[in-house]
This record gives sequence, C-alpha cells and structure tokens, in this order.
Amino acid sequence: MAVGIFDSGLGGLTVLEAVTKRLPDVPIVYYGDNAHTPYGVRDAEDIYALTTAGVDRLFQAGCDLVILACNTASAAALRRMQEGWVPEGKRVLGVFVPLIEALTERNWGDNSPPREVAVQHVALFATPTTVSSRAFQRELAFRAIGVDVEAQPCGGVVDAIEEGDMILAEALVRSHVEALQRRMPKPQAAILGCTHYPLVQEVFQAALGPDVAVYSQPDLVAASLADYLERRPEMIGPGTEAAFLTSGDPARVSNKAVQFLRRKIEFISA
Ligand code: DGL
Repeated sequence: MAVGIFDSGLGGLTVLEAVTKRLPDVPIVYYGDNAHTPYGVRDAEDIYALTTAGVDRLFQAGCDLVILACNTASAAALRRMQEGWVPEGKRVLGVFVPLIEALTERNWGDNSPPREVAVQHVALFATPTTVSSRAFQRELAFRAIGVDVEAQPCGGVVDAIEEGDMILAEALVRSHVEALQRRMPKPQAAILGCTHYPLVQEVFQAALGPDVAVYSQPDLVAASLADYLERRPEMIGPGTEAAFLTSGDPARVSNKAVQFLRRKIEFISA
C-alpha cells in the first residue's frame, strides 16, 4: 500500500512531513520534478505535461491515489487531469480543497451547496501562476458565498527559499504582505497557497499581525487525507515501499532536502 505525493520540487516535503506524522503506517512515494522546478512561472500547458508525466510515474510505483502537493500544479492542471486524464481506479487530489474546507468550517469531503460563512475578507498568497489561474476563487465559490478574496502573487519567494537565502525570502514576504494590505487593509484570514511558505509562516504571521488567522497546508492536507483514506481505504494502492523519486540530480536534491526536512533522505532517479 502506498500513496503518492507529487511536487514541482522540494516544497512538497512540507506536506510529506505532516502526512507521515499523521499516517505513519502508510508508505509514501514522493516525486519531485526538480529538473523542471519552479512551476510558478510556467504556463498551464507546460505544467499539465510535466504534472501528468510525474503522476504517471507514481501510478507505476504502485500508488492509486496521488496528492498534488504543488499548488501551482493543482491550480493549472488538476481540473483538466480529473476531467479527462486520470485512469479508471486512480485518483488525483489537490491541496486547495482541504484549505477551503477548513476556511469555510466544513467537514472534510462536504460537497453541499455553497453557503454564507463567518470569514468575509481573505488574503491569498501564492505563486504568480496560481494567482492568475483563479483556481482558489473558483473552488471557494463552490462552497461559500460572499467571500472577498484579494490575491498577492509572491514573486521571488520560492527562488529565495530554494537558494537558501532566508533573509531575502523574509524581506520579500514582508513586502508582499504590505502590497496586499494596501488593497485589503484588514483581512480576517490569510491562505499560504504554496508549498514553500510554511517555512516562512512565522514571518507571514508577524507581518499580518496576531488578529489574522493564517491557514497553512501541511496539517490540513494530512488531516483531510487521513479522513479520505478512512472513507476510501481501497484507494491505498498496491505499492509497499516508501521512496523519494526525482527527475533531477539525486545527490544534489538529497542534499537540498535537508533544508526542508532537517534530516537526511535519499532521493533516487525517477
Ligand atoms: N510547489 C509550488 C507551489 O506550491 C511552488 C514551487 C514552484 O513554483 O514550483 O505552488
């Protein structure tokens, strides 16, 4: 039994960490498309081709269920994949829905019609591609009415984190928060819609102030996945081995992964 986690690179390790804590007995096969990261500045066609190739590799590794940990892939490719590409008996799930279910105080998997919710002013921080896709707003509209979303494309943050330049990453986060606050001075909640942002979550929270509820994905995705597997245990695939696959250089990727997990893991070539 194995579940797949797909990401454009290493950021999805923030999700993997939360999932393995929550579901220690489920082997996870992780695929990082490090040869083509970052996705946040690519176009939708490109992201679709890369994401389907990576997810297909996870199906071959014995996963019937794959989580797209990458928000950019979830935003740009998931709907098209679900509508015509995912083979019979397989499932691909994204990372927006668990966030939105938490934000709108729904039970996991609640697909009832949209309704008015407590939160009305929401700030979304994400990559330029995720913001321009408007996928978050579309998914939110299926579940809630009357919510005003102001989105900030956070150019440069992923690159700074990947380079290990946390001083630059933190300065960029502060300036993106300021830019958003000029358009929405008092958001009630903020969504960190990118795999890398949990690493700078405290900087977002400090810049936004203590009154803003910050929603970060790893724990929410893990809780939603645990609930899903309880309802659909047959979706735990036939694979039995956990593995870390990369389209990039395994030695280089393994070294960089330490920054995300603070422990050593061994990537192998996909
Ligand atoms: N994994 C991407 C996301 O969550 C960020 C990195 C990238 O741009 O590829 O949006």
